Amino acid sequence: MEISVKNVNLETVKSPCLVVGVNEKRKLTTSAQQLDDLSSGFISSILRRGDISGTIGDELMLHNVPNLKAERVLLVGCGKTAELTHQRFNTIICNASNNLSKANIKNAVISLTDLDNKTLSQTMQVRLATEALHQSNYRFSELKDESPSLTKATLHFLDKRAAVMKKAKLAVQIGNAIGTGQNTARDLGNLPGNICTPTYLAKQATQYGKNYGKLKTTVLNQKEMEKLGMGSLLSVSKGSRTPPKFIVMQYNGGKKSDRPYVLVGKGVTFDSGGISIKPGAAMDEMKYDMCGAAGVMGTMVTVNELKLPINVVAIIPSVENMPDGAASKPGDIVTSMSGQTIEILNTDAEGRLILCDALTYSEKFKPKAVIDVATLTGACVIALGAHPAGLLSNQQKLADQILDAGTECGDRAWQMPLWDDYQDQLKSNFADMANIGGREAGTITAACFLSRFTKKLNWAHLDIAGVAWLGGAKKGATGRPVPLLTQYLMERCGKQYSI
Ligand code: BES
Ligand code: MN
Ligand code: ZN
Repeated sequence: MEISVKNVNLETVKSPCLVVGVNEKRKLTTSAQQLDDLSSGFISSILRRGDISGTIGDELMLHNVPNLKAERVLLVGCGKTAELTHQRFNTIICNASNNLSKANIKNAVISLTDLDNKTLSQTMQVRLATEALHQSNYRFSELKDESPSLTKATLHFLDKRAAVMKKAKLAVQIGNAIGTGQNTARDLGNLPGNICTPTYLAKQATQYGKNYGKLKTTVLNQKEMEKLGMGSLLSVSKGSRTPPKFIVMQYNGGKKSDRPYVLVGKGVTFDSGGISIKPGAAMDEMKYDMCGAAGVMGTMVTVNELKLPINVVAIIPSVENMPDGAASKPGDIVTSMSGQTIEILNTDAEGRLILCDALTYSEKFKPKAVIDVATLTGACVIALGAHPAGLLSNQQKLADQILDAGTECGDRAWQMPLWDDYQDQLKSNFADMANIGGREAGTITAACFLSRFTKKLNWAHLDIAGVAWLGGAKKGATGRPVPLLTQYLMERCGKQYSI
């Protein structure tokens, strides 16, 4: 998908389709008004007939609009622009894009970034429109013959002032980088467990290292993990025929001496539950249990595309969780890399078992901050649904930075308490801790478990179980939280990426 921004001449531009917005109560947006003036009231006469009212979801394709060189004009309902949110704006752009696809249009001029709103500047609208176009024209084409019809979009930007135009160009650049990273994450997530194994993830990460000059990928194999004492991580892959991999991607965009930001992604390429096997319904969706890894790898792609002037390390512990004669059993006790012992009371609580060793490993980078990203608990889906990621942190300042980044870009997180009170639920009579904390507050006790391995770190945990993929008819990976992580990292680079 090729997306650019420029100021076009609406009268003379030759395009298969011009897309403009109509606000609620048939109020024309600035660019729709311009088309109306050029066509001597053609648009407003149609609105008066009542064919479109302007609520979000309304759409009308017009042909042969007088005095224009464009073949068609697509009117898109934009609702009340004063009440615009990131989510509504995303819906508006996706609606427009779906209509263009239905009409088999390959290339369009889109003027939907002139909406009047206090929180979403028009340059931010350019960025969000770019992201939304990448999202809506994504197809999983690796194993199925599918391609979108829309391949090229020009975003018409009304404000010609050089400084504003420069920001709009930056906005498209950021949107393109996020869209590319997000779709990378979606491809990785959507691949089935028989293809996307730990070895496959390691190969992809190695390939990114070859594609990007500032990125170096190293992969530790089982023997090397044994030497490091990663007994907790290795206990999860014992029941699988496919070997575990520990992937480290180091991006050097800052000074050599700059301490890095570390992102840790849960890479369980299939979670059957192990001996504590899961029920059969929707078990296929457990191929998505590596979406933390995918989100982190996608973010590394985005970071490289943007060449952010900071250092970022991605750590991906990757395993398959399967039951067989060699698998961990409930009651088994393992020793983590930190030296702490863990009683595995449920082999389906495997994510924390691989993350804890990855978090201990991350200490060697002396990170400024560590954020782990994981489809960790079903309880998070029950608590928060599909809208925000769950956020828990041992440093409120870091939590606030992540919350703010989420609000800014629309890929939001919601904080839950990481109080000591919950730690008691992890007591074990036979080891330093149990790997489960009972039915209550499952997302929090999972984070409490991780907190025992992050005492030396400025650390936050994102539980993305509810946001990483959609089920039902729209089943598919979302590529979240690539926008959130990118926003967080861009904000660590000063003001240069604010738009
Ligand atoms: N990968 C799952 C969490 C999950 C389940 C995410 C369903 C999204 C949808 C994780 O490994 C898991 O199985 N967690 C258990 C923990 C429990 C055994 C304490 C869960 O949430 O049921
Ligand atoms: Mn599990
Ligand atoms: Zn899992």
